Amino acid sequence: MTVKNLAERDKAIIWHPFTQEKVAALPIPIVRGQGLRLYDENDKEYWDMVSSWWVNLHGHSHPHIARAIYEQAQKLEQVMFAGFTHEPAVMLCENLRLELAPSLRRFFFADNGSTAVEAALKMAYQYWYNQGEYQRTMFLSFEGGYHGDTVGAMSLGRTSGFYKPFENLLFEIIAAPFAATWEGDAGCETREEVYLQHLNAILNDTHHKIAAFIIEPLVQGAGGMRMCRPEFLKQVMHIVRSYGILVIFDEVMTGFGRTGTMFAYQQVSEPDFLCLSKGLSGGFLPLALTITTEQIYNSFLGDFSRAFAHGHSYSANPLGCAAAIASLELLSDLKTKTSISQINDAHIQCLFALSAEKSYIHKPRVCGTIAAFDFAEPAIGYDYQNGQILKKAFLDNGLIIRPLGNTIYLLPPYCVTTEELRVVYNKMDIILQSILKGT
Ligand SMILES: Cc1ncc(COP(=O)(O)O)c(C=O)c1O
Repeated sequence: MTVKNLAERDKAIIWHPFTQEKVAALPIPIVRGQGLRLYDENDKEYWDMVSSWWVNLHGHSHPHIARAIYEQAQKLEQVMFAGFTHEPAVMLCENLRLELAPSLRRFFFADNGSTAVEAALKMAYQYWYNQGEYQRTMFLSFEGGYHGDTVGAMSLGRTSGFYKPFENLLFEIIAAPFAATWEGDAGCETREEVYLQHLNAILNDTHHKIAAFIIEPLVQGAGGMRMCRPEFLKQVMHIVRSYGILVIFDEVMTGFGRTGTMFAYQQVSEPDFLCLSKGLSGGFLPLALTITTEQIYNSFLGDFSRAFAHGHSYSANPLGCAAAIASLELLSDLKTKTSISQINDAHIQCLFALSAEKSYIHKPRVCGTIAAFDFAEPAIGYDYQNGQILKKAFLDNGLIIRPLGNTIYLLPPYCVTTEELRVVYNKMDIILQSILKGT
């Protein structure tokens, strides 16, 4: 077979993630990126409104991060992280600690979001084992939560409905209802009360078996950008704490300013474990951290049987750490902070104004730099397949927006301007109206 262009060569050899290869369109070859924009081989421009799976914080090919990686690569590209250390790893943790609550002071490296979660769940499990509490073998999570695609992370997110073929492989969990809310949701507080009572009842029966509760704080990402009030989570934390259960905050998506504060936990309360990845390196290289308390760390000290015997070949890769240090520098810049709050203002103005006029917008919601709504036209009943139709319509118009089923969301890099966001909302409206008219 003769394959000439990149898309066809790709199609002949590569198996893509989250893709039904039988029906998928040819992938779009991207040759360069700058800021909000990605360019294909014909120089067609795409605006990356989902930050390339939520990783890119400051825009593509940011020169400050690119330079940091280049300089580090000339000094040290990689060294195994058991028995060795290096300056980028230590510096990154020291710098990050300045942003965190004093209790979060021990840093364990992994290389993606799923493995950061996997480390947290194993640490929580072994913490109880090391205490002789062998019966604490269960995990609690929120219905609709998503924590990644390794077997442990899939088990925690098994109520998300993503893992049908693996159901028999996954371990049992207990799921609590998540009080999702949106703008103009009059029933929110009543629903929260019912769900909190339900949580109390669950824990009353099961607390002695539970190792930890895992939460995506404020926004459930892949589960449909479902948002809850900080007040709800504060009460959840109060209840969970009263039963002495450990708490893991999976901030793989919400970390680094996405919800308006540096970390979502700052609007709720401190967890025992904080999982970070995606934006950690500014979206340049795979890197992840599981951060915990000195109390948890100390419980692993003793002979080797108490140690955390877990790790990854690329743990604390120096290039990833150098990128992350540079990204943190950009995040501490006033310009970035201002931009985060301007994105929030623009979402509130544009989305809520649009939803006041357009009946196709259901459950509009905004949290920090994330805006979402359900494109719910009862006569049409959008499902996953129709999500693909929406995605294609956006792409044809130069917008990278990947609906989650019928949930349409924007999660842009922080370099986006208010004017660009206005353009996106206008374009989105025109595209959705034409889909509704069937044109
Ligand atoms: C909240 C959350 N946790 C974990 C993950 C898994 O991260 P990764 O895809 O890097 O394994 C994701 C990915 O979307 C996520 O959103």
